[in-house]
Amino acid sequence: MKAILVNSDRSLSWSEVPNPEIKADEVLVEIHAAAINRADLMQREGDYPPPPGCPEWMGLEVAGVITALGDEAKAHWNIGDRVCALLGGGGYAEQVAVRYDMLMPIPKNCSMEQAASIPEAFATGYLNLFYEGKYQEGNTLLVTAGGSGLASVIIPMAKAFGARVITTVSSAKKAEKITHLGADVIVDLSSQDLAEVLKAEWEAGHGVDVAIDCLGGEMLGKCLHHLNYGARWVVIAALRGQMVSIDLKNLYVKNVKLLGSTLRSKPPAVKAQILSELVEKVYPKIESGEVMPTIDSVFPITEAEAAQDLLYQNKNVGKVVLKVR
Ligand SMILES: NC(=O)c1ccc[n+]([C@@H]2O[C@H](COP(=O)([O-])OP(=O)(O)OC[C@H]3O[C@@H](n4cnc5c(N)ncnc54)[C@H](OP(=O)(O)O)[C@@H]3O)[C@@H](O)[C@H]2O)c1
Repeated sequence: MKAILVNSDRSLSWSEVPNPEIKADEVLVEIHAAAINRADLMQREGDYPPPPGCPEWMGLEVAGVITALGDEAKAHWNIGDRVCALLGGGGYAEQVAVRYDMLMPIPKNCSMEQAASIPEAFATGYLNLFYEGKYQEGNTLLVTAGGSGLASVIIPMAKAFGARVITTVSSAKKAEKITHLGADVIVDLSSQDLAEVLKAEWEAGHGVDVAIDCLGGEMLGKCLHHLNYGARWVVIAALRGQMVSIDLKNLYVKNVKLLGSTLRSKPPAVKAQILSELVEKVYPKIESGEVMPTIDSVFPITEAEAAQDLLYQNKNVGKVVLKVR
């Protein structure tokens, strides 16, 4: 089969690789679409190696059709089932072997491209909203980088669970492009100070209860003072800087919890539990049309380099997808 390999000069090529072999608890998925994540760029740069046992090529989420089943997997899936899958890696390819419990059915109203955009973004959103963030209905959520593929899913999902949502963008142009996601407050970081906005929100009775933050940087320390008592601030990346200073008093006086999380490093049983809760609790909202992934653009997989350039240049609003067949 073919997969996207990273050459020594970091360019990408659609190259011949060995076919995957399935274990007893795995299925073989013929991939129709694979969605791109920021983590793929880090893996391409050599900063985020795939977990042991995963293929060396990039790709954390795909949609496709099951073409073979290991013995244990036969009790759960059938050949011909249309599925989307959460992967440790290996999605930029024609086929992938996946544990049977890392699969979800494709929602009945979703295309292969939309379904490929579901597993990583929805599972990360669900993990950080409910497991790490201990979200309660009616809470105020701050999610940074509102135009990211991830936030484009978290914002409508949180709204569907009754949240007030504050988000950030880096330009007025991006703010305009994300209005359809339904955030209550969009903070343009090029002209507004997030800490000042959070202070005003807190004074107006809309203090932040849960933050899902991929930016970090000095902004983080300035914001901690303006959260609700007992708030949870979950760091999921640090695009604006990982070495920051914070006043620890802001944590203990207001009982604020500052924590970090990555979906990729969670044990398989936790990921499987999240996927089954997504199917039970979020799929009805997808199938009713209330929550849908936003697709920025679709490229043929042979143009993976041009597709990733959109993320490198922060040009995408929502998910960028590679069409395999
Ligand atoms: N921990 C986890 O489990 C986990 C899982 C999934 C994703 N993530 C993280 O979540 C983030 C979003 O992922 P994604 O795949 O959705 O990414 P994405 O689509 O590439 O979006 C990232 C966005 O972040 C903003 N950004 C980038 N550099 C920035 C900077 N220096 N300062 C301010 N904003 C910046 C840009 O939006 P603007 O143009 O508005 O600035 C950009 O569009 C990534 O950092 C990723 O690593 C973490």
